Amino acid sequence: KDIEELIEKLEAHHNIDKEELVTLLALEDPSKIYQAADRVRKKYVGDEVHLRGLIEFSNYCSNTCFYCGLRGPNRTIKRYRMEPEEILQCVKYGASVGLKTIVLQSGEDKYFKIITLCKIIEEIKKLDIAVTLSIGELPTKDYAELKKAGADRYLLRIETTDKELYQKLHPGMSYENRVRCLMDLRELGYEVGTGSLVGLPGQTLEMLAQDLIFFKKIDADMLGIGPFIPCENTPLEGEKGGNVEIVLKMLALSRLILPDINIPATTALAVKDKAGYIKGLKCGANVIMPNIGIDEYKKLYKLYPGKVPDNPSEAVNNIENIKKLILSQNRTIGKDKGYRKKILN
Ligand code: 5AD
Repeated sequence: KDIEELIEKLEAHHNIDKEELVTLLALEDPSKIYQAADRVRKKYVGDEVHLRGLIEFSNYCSNTCFYCGLRGPNRTIKRYRMEPEEILQCVKYGASVGLKTIVLQSGEDKYFKIITLCKIIEEIKKLDIAVTLSIGELPTKDYAELKKAGADRYLLRIETTDKELYQKLHPGMSYENRVRCLMDLRELGYEVGTGSLVGLPGQTLEMLAQDLIFFKKIDADMLGIGPFIPCENTPLEGEKGGNVEIVLKMLALSRLILPDINIPATTALAVKDKAGYIKGLKCGANVIMPNIGIDEYKKLYKLYPGKVPDNPSEAVNNIENIKKLILSQNRTIGKDKGYRKKILN
């Protein structure tokens, strides 16, 4: 019927309007969307799952995002910064287990000078490893210097494209500057990743549809989409978290509108649902980000609860567990750097 035609059209042409997206996001039985996304994933990016080794190198943050445990005003968490030497140790470990991409992530920590980061990037690039940065909003010239040093990709979620909700959740920040950052990164030749939090208080299906339209409009190369998980000692600690099904719908629809991009099954999805990675991989995802940092620091990088159990080798994002999981799903582990395939343009 109507819905099936809509999904067929989307699978064939990757085009859809906002109203149609809302209809699909509201579907009670989304299995047809998931199956279409899985076919499109297989056709455009294949069975490979790319691993991106995540190093959370500082949990200092000067921002005050309402949902995030690392927000500056949260005095209850111990703060840490890794030494460049420690970061490079983790990189070498990642290289030794076959990783071809390293993601350097931190809070917005003014302590690290751009020149220091550039040197770290240059060292990593000597190992023939792609570098993804996820260190927040910076002036154009800093993005340019980091690119010149060899950074390949940048992750900066828009979090929500609803301006009013954005301003409510990010005091002192501006939606316009965030978009400016994404435009700068694109202009400078980075592969650009964005994405949103799903299940934020006050967020509607219309807003999520608008997020998808935005991803398509800016032609995102990567999309990180996960459930909002309420975190203690934040203004949203008492709120309800995001729902796994809606996250999966967002992943599947992302794959359908942007068939050749890289889409991770996110850590938050796996924390929220024991089968989160597997579900994500079946709904369009083709990337997982194992954490290859140092155990004592992993515990302190508390964006949301449940990320790190007492025994870190039992963590959902432990690399050995992830490799087994991928193979158990009859998928393969990507061997190259896993750039966007750019099949459509
Ligand atoms: N729940 C889920 N994801 C979160 N992030 C921050 N706080 C939370 C939370 N409470 C996500 C943001 C950010 C990414 C690094 O972590 O979307 O972009």
